[in-house]
Amino acid sequence: MSTSTRVLVTGATGTVGRHLVPLLRRRGAPVRAFVRDRAKAIDALGPDVDLAVGDLDDRASLDAAVAGVDQVFLASANHPRQVAWETTAIDAAADAGVRRVVKLSARGAAIGSPVAFGDAHGRVEEYLRGRGVAHVVLRPGFYLTNLLGAADGVRHGVLALPAAGARIAMIDPRDVAQVAAAVLTGSGHDGRTYDLTGPEAVTGDDVARELSTLLGHRIDFVAVPDEAALARLAADGVPGWFATATVAVFGQLRRGVQSEARDVVRAVTGREPRSVADFLADHASAFPVADDALAATTRR
Ligand SMILES: NC(=O)c1ccc[n+]([C@@H]2O[C@H](COP(=O)([O-])OP(=O)(O)OC[C@H]3O[C@@H](n4cnc5c(N)ncnc54)[C@H](OP(=O)(O)O)[C@@H]3O)[C@@H](O)[C@H]2O)c1
Repeated sequence: MSTSTRVLVTGATGTVGRHLVPLLRRRGAPVRAFVRDRAKAIDALGPDVDLAVGDLDDRASLDAAVAGVDQVFLASANHPRQVAWETTAIDAAADAGVRRVVKLSARGAAIGSPVAFGDAHGRVEEYLRGRGVAHVVLRPGFYLTNLLGAADGVRHGVLALPAAGARIAMIDPRDVAQVAAAVLTGSGHDGRTYDLTGPEAVTGDDVARELSTLLGHRIDFVAVPDEAALARLAADGVPGWFATATVAVFGQLRRGVQSEARDVVRAVTGREPRSVADFLADHASAFPVADDALAATTRR
């Protein structure tokens, strides 16, 4: 295992990046975190991380950040400018002679995907392949952290998602970070595209059952129609393009595109991926119980 490689982590304050930075440091790999906001980064990562403050929209800040770096972990947010941001970062890395780019993508990434997020990732992947820099693509499925967004309903005994009948091999983003750390500090991965999943595919009813057991009050899964999901996202102030893409993701999930678990996390890291129950147990405090739900449970 090579540990001397210097890694620039973009999206370092994000869902995967915030776990990847400490994992790399523990492995002895020098890390630089590319962040927009120094104070937020210190809050997320601690005070002693090498920070490159910049913006993916600012090529000069990327050029400064990649100087002296061997590898780049490329992650950003779902955003109308995601393709522009990430292709600019790939250019900066390639022009600076960075040895390898590890791109955080998503399952089903493909140009022309019916899901805008998947189309964007497909475009970035194609650009990366054409830029001639060694690369690895990580394509995780549905993050278990998405369930945290359902906490309001769970408080009152309802897990509401537009996921009727969907079986989804949800993954804990901490396991995505484990794979990224193994790839960035290991060898033999160049050119590979890894589909990353949790250990098993689960339904909304399965998740509701796990939550009921964990929280000690009854939670029922409720399948939300797409129109209601869109209206809810709009009411929450979510931009229309993001809401449409999010509901399209669930449409794909109902078609079963993520209904099979893959063995890649274990194969790359040597560890079993975390289960839904593991994830929920570690995040129980994110699901407070409302008085009305407790009272209903007592009455049952
Ligand atoms: N959610 C899922 O189920 C799922 C599944 C598979 C793949 N993914 C992929 O995972 C990626 C991350 O998604 P997420 O929703 O979990 O987001 P996230 O990682 O929580 O946040 C995005 C990160 O990108 C940074 N960022 C955003 N705009 C930036 C800019 N202009 N310049 C520099 N940094 C910027 C953010 O920094 P700040 O802290 O400054 O905002 C943050 O660190 C996306 O590409 C998504 O497609 C998600």
